[in-house]
Amino acid sequence: MTSDSTLRPPVPPKRVHIKTYGCQMNVYDSERMSEALAPLGYTSTDLAAEADLVLINTCHIREKASEKLYSDLGRLRDMKAERADGDQVMIAVAGCVAQAEGDEIIRRAPDVDLVIGPQAYHRLPELISRRTKGEKAAFAPQFEPESKFQTLSTSRDAHGVSAFLTVQEGCDKFCAFCVVPYTRGAEYSRPAAQILEEARALASKGVRELTLLGQNVNAYGGDDGAGATLDLASLVRRLTQIPGLARLRYTTSHPNDMAESLIEAHADIDELMPYLHLPVQSGSDRILAAMNRKHTAEDYLKIVERLRRARPDLALSGDFIVGFPGETEADFEATLSLVREVGYASAFSFKYSRRPGTPAASSTVQIDEDIKTERLARLNALLEDQRQTFNRSKIGETFPVLFEKPGRHEGQLIGRSPWLQAVWAEAPLRLVGELANVRITGVGPNSLTGTVVTVEGGAL
Ligand code: 5AD
Ligand code: SF4
Repeated sequence: MTSDSTLRPPVPPKRVHIKTYGCQMNVYDSERMSEALAPLGYTSTDLAAEADLVLINTCHIREKASEKLYSDLGRLRDMKAERADGDQVMIAVAGCVAQAEGDEIIRRAPDVDLVIGPQAYHRLPELISRRTKGEKAAFAPQFEPESKFQTLSTSRDAHGVSAFLTVQEGCDKFCAFCVVPYTRGAEYSRPAAQILEEARALASKGVRELTLLGQNVNAYGGDDGAGATLDLASLVRRLTQIPGLARLRYTTSHPNDMAESLIEAHADIDELMPYLHLPVQSGSDRILAAMNRKHTAEDYLKIVERLRRARPDLALSGDFIVGFPGETEADFEATLSLVREVGYASAFSFKYSRRPGTPAASSTVQIDEDIKTERLARLNALLEDQRQTFNRSKIGETFPVLFEKPGRHEGQLIGRSPWLQAVWAEAPLRLVGELANVRITGVGPNSLTGTVVTVEGGAL
């Protein structure tokens, strides 16, 4: 029998270096692009200096994104000049800056060979071969999520115990500060069958934990293949039936899409981890209205209460913006007070940054940088205190840890708690990919340490 590959002419080996900025969805996208490039003969390299193709996957959500891109491009220009084969090196810019400022990039950086928006990654191999044949830099800003996900295969390479899987992309919420609805386009949910196939492929390669990704993941409503729509809770239930998958997470959620079915899922699905990233952005109703969030602080607190009733050990993480246009000291204190009431296990906080094209960018009541800096420091101090309190509360507890890889010291493994904390313990290498009950004995600045008590399905 002749295998398919022997019929094709061999492709010359090439190297791709991918630099990824931004969110987990960009990490997922970079992996998918790397997989899509494999049939063209590309393997990955960590070194830009030995790459034939350098791909920068950009993020546009906050300031300095384009400055970072142009300084990367400057360094790459020098690298090309120094390398004997420099003129052969191809440079591609992907991600949300590519989507938002594609024409500008091509104008300012003539060295760039390709600019490709997040909805066109399935066209990357085609654009690269066209470029190789001498066609000029292509800009592919179309929003075509359906054909993107259909074209990118669901077979997936897996590199570890835990993997990301995009189930939903884009956003229809139009928060007044945010570029996502413009750079990632309208909400799109992948059909359930496609997701389940990808999840099975990952599980068969040893993945034990899946994090379902979406800009608005809990708005997921995918085709179930039988003419109905499946919500996120039902999708999670189907995923629990895949052998090998022990843990499921999802991120990022919007409070307004926290359906009762999903809250119930937290009550009765063991595989669904008791940790939820549920951004509120501000604790002031006036600012929430100006942000176009369409919920109040009270609405948010009620959701948190329902979630905690369903799953008492649920820990929360959040995103906060300080210095949104018009934010007064009283508004900011309302944010501090909401944070005190909720008690976060971890959180991300940002100074408001003007994103061109978003409604808040043209507001006339912008806040001084000094005030933003001062408020961010106060909020961070409170959040850091809560994070440490949460970590310390785990001392003496025993819970399952999913071991991911060897630790820094011989004989040590590092894994994750149900609440996403890093946990170190003495354990044999064969426990990588296994769940073990670990008793927590200590807490460091960014991790816990513990002792293995029992392992999944048997003795140590
Ligand atoms: N300025 C500051 N923070 C922002 N975010 C989104 N847009 C902006 C902006 N213009 C934050 C929000 C969001 C997170 C991913 O980034 O908190 O939840
Ligand atoms: Fe941006 Fe999230 Fe608001 Fe959508 S819901 S506009 S992604 S902050």
